Order: sequence, then structure tokens, then C-alpha cells
Amino acid sequence: MSKAIGPCHFVIFGATGDLSVNKLLPALYYLQREGRLPESLSLIAVSRRPWDRRDWQDFMREKLPERLGEDYLEGDFEKFVERFAYVRLEHDQAQHYTDLKLEMSKPRQGTCANIVFYLAISPADFTTVVSQLGEAGLSGKLFGNRVVIEKPFGYDLDTAKQLNQHLRQYFDEEQIFRIDHYLGKETVQNLLVFRFANSLVEPIWNRNYIDQVQITVAESKGIGHRAGYFDGVGTLRDMLQNHMMQLLSVVAMEPPARLHADALRDEKVKVLRSIRPIPRGSANQFALRAQYAAGEGAVAYQDEPGVADNSMTETYVAAKFYIDNWRWSGVPFYLRTGKRLPHDQTLISLQLKHPPRQLFRETPLEFIEPNWIVLSIQPEESTHIELQAKEPGLDMRTRTMQLMASFRQDDQRPLGAYETLLLDIIEGDRSLFIRFDEVEWSWRVVDPILRQWGRDTDYIHTYPAGSWGPKEASRLFDTDEQHWRNSIDAS
Ligand code: BG6
Repeated sequence: MSKAIGPCHFVIFGATGDLSVNKLLPALYYLQREGRLPESLSLIAVSRRPWDRRDWQDFMREKLPERLGEDYLEGDFEKFVERFAYVRLEHDQAQHYTDLKLEMSKPRQGTCANIVFYLAISPADFTTVVSQLGEAGLSGKLFGNRVVIEKPFGYDLDTAKQLNQHLRQYFDEEQIFRIDHYLGKETVQNLLVFRFANSLVEPIWNRNYIDQVQITVAESKGIGHRAGYFDGVGTLRDMLQNHMMQLLSVVAMEPPARLHADALRDEKVKVLRSIRPIPRGSANQFALRAQYAAGEGAVAYQDEPGVADNSMTETYVAAKFYIDNWRWSGVPFYLRTGKRLPHDQTLISLQLKHPPRQLFRETPLEFIEPNWIVLSIQPEESTHIELQAKEPGLDMRTRTMQLMASFRQDDQRPLGAYETLLLDIIEGDRSLFIRFDEVEWSWRVVDPILRQWGRDTDYIHTYPAGSWGPKEASRLFDTDEQHWRNSIDAS
């Protein structure tokens, strides 16, 4: 990890928005409480509201304690609140950027070198803010100022390229931090350790032993009050193009030469580039979309506040990809994600092939389960391996046993994904951030699906809220033996 002199200012655009209140501010609070935020770092909240610093501090006092729950400690919290300055800024008003510069020119203590601009704003405003920062002389190529961009990075391949070109007019690649918060999750980083620190694992992690790979990101919540963002974006863009493609790349990548930002990203891009392109007109053989209908006390997606009555936006996606390289040739990767599924669960499950011969004839063939490796990313953080063992008794029968290990060994508070990533931004470590070619190749993978769905505007599958999605999702499987794995325990 490279530890250059850190930033002087951490500026949050969109400070009053959901992302800031739910993720960024709590993460900064924890970092401060644990002594990880450099003393010399000033925190500046930026939003459109015509407020002064006191109004902003009152806003934090109103919103954050509930969010922090039992981690709210008044003394620590007040120290945190005191660190903030506030600047009112309309994104397209050059004068307001001068106000921001003025705030940053106030005398300060300690040594520091640059500025972080965190754009926690609507993607529609990214280009405006980036140009204004550039025109105001704040992109700071010389000092290495940093700009942090949240997903979605673009709306499809073309818009992603345009956004990137625009960014690169004002910022060098080294200054750009494209966030995918899944990479900040410790259990996702643990995938690297599980794969590359265990000589037991790596030799079987390939087409010779693995029959299929499944990645499931299930969420029980609906879209809440995010219709303004979500309707018209949909799950393919919101989850699969970014979070799930990142999970897939980490599962499938080759070992990098070293644990260095570019070496890791090179390997991830190679995976994305090897995904077999979906031929024109056949997207529906490889992907399926659906929308939740009413169920288990929840309203249908189309009845959520702010959603158009006839919206075709998908809340569920299942897709199948093949990675045409030496390691994975012929192994299907099934990905699915949805809202209003039965419970929150992110699982990476690998089914191993059957042994070449069935020796234990007292167990009917259909009862011999294959081995599975199941990595639970959240909310349980654990690793499971399913093996066959002898059924106790006189007969030579087999039964499934599961070896299970928790990721954590004590009750220490886990470091949240945003805490890890904010610390990396402050320290200038880009290993867990996305390079543009990763964004680009992920869009190349999903673009044919988007284009096909853009043409098919008269039908979308539905599933009752609280169910595991549409039954049609099973048609993606290559063989009758394959089925969705819904839980850590075999089901
Ligand atoms: C966000 C998506 O990026 O990730 C949300 O926009 C989704 O729709 C969220 O709910 C899921 O993140 P996590 O960390 O709760 O799995």
C-alpha cells in the first residue's frame, strides 16, 4: 500500500443525500472514533441547501444518531460534527466553486498535499461538477487531487466512454477513484486469500473439477423511496454490470503477479475480456429479467411510490456467462440478483464434478450429492465445504457433511466496506477501485442484453414479492441436474 502524504480536505458533494447520510458520514464517524482519520484532514460538506455551518451540524445531529444506533457516543459524535465546514453550492454556478476555494484557503495545521472530491450526487450531474472543478482550477493535476465517482458509471457502453473522456479532460487516471463498494467488503477480499493462499484450493479451481459456478445477490428490501434513481435504471445496470461482474472477476481471475493495484486489475480485465459475447438476437437465451408483483404484505413494484404504472424496469436478473479461457472453458457461471427475495444473502457457490465412478452402490446414485464450496459474503460471513462421508451403520452408504468456518473469530466490529474504501482514498491506494477498462468491458458484456431488452418492450416476467424469483429462471441451466442454490445449507 502506497502511503503518500494525505489530503488536506475531504469534500463531500451531495452531503445531504442518502448515500452520504447512510454510508459516507457513518463511515467517517467510525474512522474518526477509531483514530484513523488524520488530524490534519478537514471535512467539508457541500450541498444546494442555503445553509450555514450550524444548520449543517444540526442536520447531522438529527439524522445520524439513529443511523449509528448503539455506536452513537455523544462525546465522539460532537467532536466529529465540529470538524465539518459547510459550503452551499449549486452544481452549475462557477461563483460557488470560488466560495469552496475560499473555504479551503483558510489557515490550517499539519502537513497535507491534496484534496478529495467525493461526488455523492446524481450521475446526471457528474459532468457538470467535473467541468466546474476543472474550470475553477481545482482538478489539481500537479498535486494529485482525487475525484471519487460512484456507480453507475454511464448508462451503457457509449455513455460510459463519454463520461470517461470528460473526466480525463480534467483529471489523470491516477486521480480518479471509481467506487464499487463490493470490493470494500472484507469477505470479497477474503476470496483472494481463500484462492491464492491455499494450495488445497487453487488446483481444483478450474474446468477439470468445477461443474458450475453460481453467484447470488439476494435482497429482501424493495426499492423504498429510490424510484427516482431506480426506475429506468433497473437491476442489470444497478447490480449486475458492476457489483456482480466484480465478484465474477475475482472468482475467475488468474493469480496476479503481486498484490498491486494494476496487477490485480489487469487480471480482472482479462476475465471480462474472455467472457463469450452474447450473439445478436440471442440475449434471452442467456439472461432473463423480472419484476416483483405484490406478495407477503409488499406492494408490486409498479405500485411503489414514484414508479410508472406500466414500468418495464426489472427488479430481478438471472444470467449465464461462459468464460472462454483455458481455466474456465465450458463452465457456466450463473448470476442472479433481485429485490424482494426471501432474505438478504450473497453467496458464491461452486459445484464440483462427480467422481468418475460410483463405488458405493448401497446409496442410490440420485442421493449422492456433488461436493460444493460455498462462500457466504453477507450477512453470514463464512466458508462452507460439502463433502460426502460414510453414513454411520453397517451399510456402506454415503451422506453429506458440511465443514463450516466463520470468517471472524471474535466479536470485533467488522470494518464496513465504505470505511475501508474511504481510508484507501485518503491514503491514495487504488487497488480496490475500478480502472476504466474494467467498466468498459463490463458494459461490453451486458450491452447486448440491454439492447435486446430495449427492443422487447411489451413483456416482463413477474414474481411474487418474498419468493426466489420467476420459475423461468431455471431454463438457463445447461443440465437437469443443475438448480439454484438458495441457501448456505444444501437445498
Ligand atoms: C447499491 C445498489 O449499489 O448496492 C442498491 O444501488 C443495492 O440497489 C446495494 O441495494 C446493495 O449493497 P449491499 O452492500 O447492501 O449488498
